[in-house]
Formats: sequence, C-alpha cells, structure tokens
Amino acid sequence: MRKKIAAANWKMNLEAEEARQLYYDISNVKIPKNVTVFLAVPFPYLASLSLLAKSQPRISIVAQNVSQHTSGAYTGEVSYPMLRSIGVNWCVIGHSERRSIFQESNEILKDKVNLGLKEGSNLVFCCGEPLSIRKKKTHKAYVENQLTASLWQLSASDFDKVVIAYEPIWAIGTGVTASAAEAQEMHQYIRLLISQKYNKKVADQVSILYGGSVKPANAKELFSQADVDGGLVGGASLKAASFSQIIKSFG
Ligand code: 13P
Repeated sequence: MRKKIAAANWKMNLEAEEARQLYYDISNVKIPKNVTVFLAVPFPYLASLSLLAKSQPRISIVAQNVSQHTSGAYTGEVSYPMLRSIGVNWCVIGHSERRSIFQESNEILKDKVNLGLKEGSNLVFCCGEPLSIRKKKTHKAYVENQLTASLWQLSASDFDKVVIAYEPIWAIGTGVTASAAEAQEMHQYIRLLISQKYNKKVADQVSILYGGSVKPANAKELFSQADVDGGLVGGASLKAASFSQIIKSFG
C-alpha cells in the first residue's frame, strides 16, 4: 500500500522560535492512522527539529534541497552525508523554485537523485509545467521529459525510496489550484508512465503528491482522487490551524 502524505514546505519562512512553535503545534495534531506528515524546513532548523521528531514516528523532517556533491570546496552547500549525520533522511529534489530561480537543470537533478539513492536518502522528486506549457496543452510531454531526464535511470527497487510531487507552476503561490480532475489526470498519467517504464507493482506503490495552492478548502477533494496520495503544501503549511486541517483531509 502506498503512503498517504501531508507534506509541508516551509520554503524560506519562519524564524527559529516561530519554527519551533509551529513544530510543537503540528506535533500535537492527531494524525489520521494511515497518514504520514512531512515537514520540509529551512536548513538551520533541521538538526533541532529532527531531534524532536525522533519521538514522533509519524512526522519526518525533510531537507528542501541538497548538493549534488558529497563533500569539498562548495561554499554554502549542504551534503547528503551532513543530512544523514543529523538524522535527516528525506530531501526534496527539483522544486520548481530551485529549477527556475537557481537554474537547476534536469542533469543536475539527475545527479542529486543518483547521489541521494547512493547515500541512502529518501527523495521527494518534484515535477510540473509552467503556464505557457499548460496553455499549449503539452504539459504531459513536458512532465514526461522531466521524469525521463532525472528519474528513469533508477532501478525498480529504488522507487521504495522515492515520492513524486506534481506541482504545476501556474498553481504555486497563485491561489489558483488545479481542479481535482486536472490533478487526477496528471497523477494517473505519471503512474501510467511508471508502469510502462517499470511495472504495475512499482507504479501502484509510489506515492504521488499534488502541490500548488492546496488549502483546507480544497484538500479533501484533491486527496479523494484515486491517484492523489497527498499534498505538498506551501503557504497553507505555515499556520498550524490550516495545516492541521489539511492533515485531517484524507478520506
Ligand atoms: P503553495 O501551496 O504556496 O502554492 O506552494 C506550493 C509549493 O510550492 C509546495 O512545494
């Protein structure tokens, strides 16, 4: 059975005390039995929050980014072994903000994926098309290319450690959410691609999250779609009240 996941992406928000408070508030939420909560938090908070989350088996602390190098002269970068050494074994790879603002190419992301698996990390791999591509109706081919370029080199067994997040860029931080039908169509397509490339067993066990203006008001409908296994939530994850409602939105 694939995992149901409510994932928060705090992005570059919250100062230390606010982060600690939000963690405490979320750790007091009664998480539905079949759901896991991911908190992708800024680097400075990873060590302390992963220590706190040791007593919370249903909450995983996740890095928002990682270097494609193991160690060395890469000022300002953070490596997989560093994350592992503080108990962080999940990382988001290829968020659209990393791709567009920090020019992370499909090739760099492929290196990050490969190194992550080699270093024993679990990955949340993000994909999704910009508005111009959606308007041209070439979004399926665009996302297929992202997956082919950075993920399809993995073996079937590697997918035990991979979650995919479909985040259409036109829905991120815009308040415009993909409709439940639009999300389901893409998630079903991604699962079809996995079954064609690998097999149905792999496709059925990979969790595929939707991201892009998920809020308490739309989470239930999105998460009730057959191929939507949860959400990767930005803005609405920064307040305990809204994120806890999202956590409880699984049917
Ligand atoms: P919003 O929920 O703010 O649209 O952000 C989505 C996102 O980018 C999560 O990674």
